[in-house]
Amino acid sequence: MSALAPLLTKRWGDERSWTLESYRRAGGYEALAKALALTPGEVLATVKDSGLRGRGGAGFPTGVKWSFLPPPDGGPRYLVVNADESEPGTCKDIPLLMADPHSLIEGIAITAYAIGCHHAFVYLRGEVVHVYRRLLAAAREAAEAGLLGPSVMGSGYDLRLTVHAGAGAYICGEETALLDSLEGRRGQPRLKPPFPAVAGLYARPTVVNNVESIASVPWIVLGGADWWKSMGTEKSTGVAIYSLSGHVARPGQYEAPLGVTMRQLLELAGGVRAGHELKFWMPGGSSTPMFTPEQLDVPLDYDSVAGAGSMLGTRALQVFDETVCVTRAVTRWMEFYAHESCGKCTPCREGTFWLRAVLRRIEGGQGRAEDMQILDDIPKSIVGRAFCPLGDGAPSSLVSSLKFFREEYLRHIELGRCPFDRRASELFEEADR
Ligand SMILES: Cc1cc2nc3c(=O)[nH]c(=O)nc-3n(C[C@H](O)[C@H](O)[C@H](O)COP(=O)(O)O)c2cc1C
Ligand code: SF4
Repeated sequence: MSALAPLLTKRWGDERSWTLESYRRAGGYEALAKALALTPGEVLATVKDSGLRGRGGAGFPTGVKWSFLPPPDGGPRYLVVNADESEPGTCKDIPLLMADPHSLIEGIAITAYAIGCHHAFVYLRGEVVHVYRRLLAAAREAAEAGLLGPSVMGSGYDLRLTVHAGAGAYICGEETALLDSLEGRRGQPRLKPPFPAVAGLYARPTVVNNVESIASVPWIVLGGADWWKSMGTEKSTGVAIYSLSGHVARPGQYEAPLGVTMRQLLELAGGVRAGHELKFWMPGGSSTPMFTPEQLDVPLDYDSVAGAGSMLGTRALQVFDETVCVTRAVTRWMEFYAHESCGKCTPCREGTFWLRAVLRRIEGGQGRAEDMQILDDIPKSIVGRAFCPLGDGAPSSLVSSLKFFREEYLRHIELGRCPFDRRASELFEEADR
């Protein structure tokens, strides 16, 4: 398999790639013209046949999700694009929006047409003001060129686009919390069912999709379902963006067919930083169980990663070398989850709070022997009992680290300090010399 397959990232290096002029020069909006010449049902069938799976984390088939909308009843139905991108380590939607915002807008226009929607929304992570401005500018350009608004491309099909900046809460990436936030309420997950397809935004039928999912749609419409399926694996079709961060020589976004391995991606990224070796890595962001060098050859598609005991998630590949204290890394993640827990349900609100407290104690050198039992027990009270997947994912790094690196936690407790501190100070001394 050729390791790299740039499609969604193909235009990122073009001169002023974010402008309509540049996008059109590279063939932009040809897919929209093609889609508008088809019936909405034909567009939907193409995406369904392609096997595209949602790129926001859960990997649900995109076309199947669209087909869950009830038949038109004359009232509004909405498309909401999830651009919240807040999972630690995930860095693909924001760069895509910065470099190539028109690819999302074209994908939105095609998707909205396919599902019979006339008002689409993008819910963008609020902290990225520069991306917000860029997306607004692109939407303005598209509207002025007749690619959004009344009678898109003269087709008679009308589409309005609203770009909304959130206020910066990880939970607002969860699709129903996002909808509450978009409606002006405090962002907390809703009870499901009803699912958004039946009662979503303003209680109307709504499709919520990730930025990368929607930006893949123009490629599928242009190339066809069979071409898309010729890439990737049988059940994880097409290409996807993998973001590599941490202790790699060349961190960044690497687009490859699903099923590429971490070993191949690491090679492309120049390997682990010079003079160091891989200790552990996260395959799908901080909510997924960690892997060690043993899993370097696991194909990075949904089923293979699940079969190896983790989740592909958002393909946020975080790399950690031997200088990293796993207890410290897991404590930082738990601080994030305890902070971002929305507080709606007790298992997650209390569980993340206490895990953070115990982990801080161990990391700080005040750990007690019985703390190990507490670390083993609390996740059992959260996973499967939380109201939404934030709670289920919060202890993943801890539980997997206890499986692979239990002795490191014990060393903290025995020594009454971090065993890595000396190593770190030695490294600083080396650097000074
Ligand atoms: C705590 C939490 C945060 C999430 N954050 C995001 C996010 O930032 N972007 C995203 O697309 N999906 C996120 N999701 C997943 C969404 O709920 C939803 O599954 C996704 O937007 C659906 O799009 P897709 O089918 O195209 O993947 C998050 C889920 C949870 C539980
Ligand atoms: S699991 Fe956590 S984030 Fe989700 S509803 Fe419960 S408290 Fe809120």
